[in-house]
Amino acid sequence: MKHLLKMSDLSTEEILDILNLADQLKYELKHGIPHNHLKGKTLGMIFQKASTRTRVSFETGMYQLGGYPLFLSSADLQIGRGEPVQDTARVLSRYLDGIMIRTFEQKEVEDLAKFGQIPIINGLTDFAHPCQVLADLMTIREVKNVFDGLKMCFIGDGNNMANSLIVGGLKVGMEVAVACPNGFHPDKQVLDFANSFDCFTLTDSPAVAAKDADVLITDVWSSMGMEDEIEMRKKAFKGYQINDEIMAVAKNDAMVMHCLPAHREEEITTKVFEAHAKEIFEEAENRLHAQKAVMVKLMADN
Ligand code: CP
Ligand code: NVA
Repeated sequence: MKHLLKMSDLSTEEILDILNLADQLKYELKHGIPHNHLKGKTLGMIFQKASTRTRVSFETGMYQLGGYPLFLSSADLQIGRGEPVQDTARVLSRYLDGIMIRTFEQKEVEDLAKFGQIPIINGLTDFAHPCQVLADLMTIREVKNVFDGLKMCFIGDGNNMANSLIVGGLKVGMEVAVACPNGFHPDKQVLDFANSFDCFTLTDSPAVAAKDADVLITDVWSSMGMEDEIEMRKKAFKGYQINDEIMAVAKNDAMVMHCLPAHREEEITTKVFEAHAKEIFEEAENRLHAQKAVMVKLMADN
């Protein structure tokens, strides 16, 4: 594994290796055991979109690993004034040991990896959010102990989270059911991959997708960059919500996750959100541990 660009680049074994290391790093952090695997290394963090969790967890994680994180706002970089990614990649490769980038187009992340000489980590694009999904898988395994035999259900927009959850969930052996309104389906390449599994369902019915689910996940109806579509989407996604009715058709002990930020009373009710806050905020914490594992896998010397 040279980069983390999208879930489909990872084998099942690589995903499980990252999750095992993430569990170990979480244990070490909680018990005050030093883990300076990236002493003297630097990570550049390029943000072309807003972030709370990704920025703070990468920055803190790099510090905890003994390395140094640099926050690089695209507003201040020449990339924000049109300097090509190809040139940015080749320059930054000479200063840094790794780059985390949050941007719009997946191609930009793939180009950084193609033209640079250092590991690239996708911190969210319009297509994928692999760091979040690694943290989600870590959280599911913490709560449920296993992946085999679990049904994961995603309700909402066929966006970066849906694309990454579908691939990640199927790769670790879960049944995956997704409910999206027509016209808002996940990416075609993702669906082509998913349709080769008998245990994948795409439906327009949230109740069908949620039936007997062990894990229920949703995300905002309008992602970053879709600000002009908010009102149209509020209408299109009405009913695509995790609420008491959906919880009633899922398993009694179903867990609920949300990558955050959440829009209460849109994709999830306040009541369900607060009833499952423990899982949702553990999921947010696990961003730190999962990303530290990714950085160690990609950037440590040994
Ligand atoms: N879930 C997530 O990626 O959060 P941020 O946008 O705050 O980084
Ligand atoms: N789908 C959301 C996820 C935010 C973490 C977005 O792209 O804005």
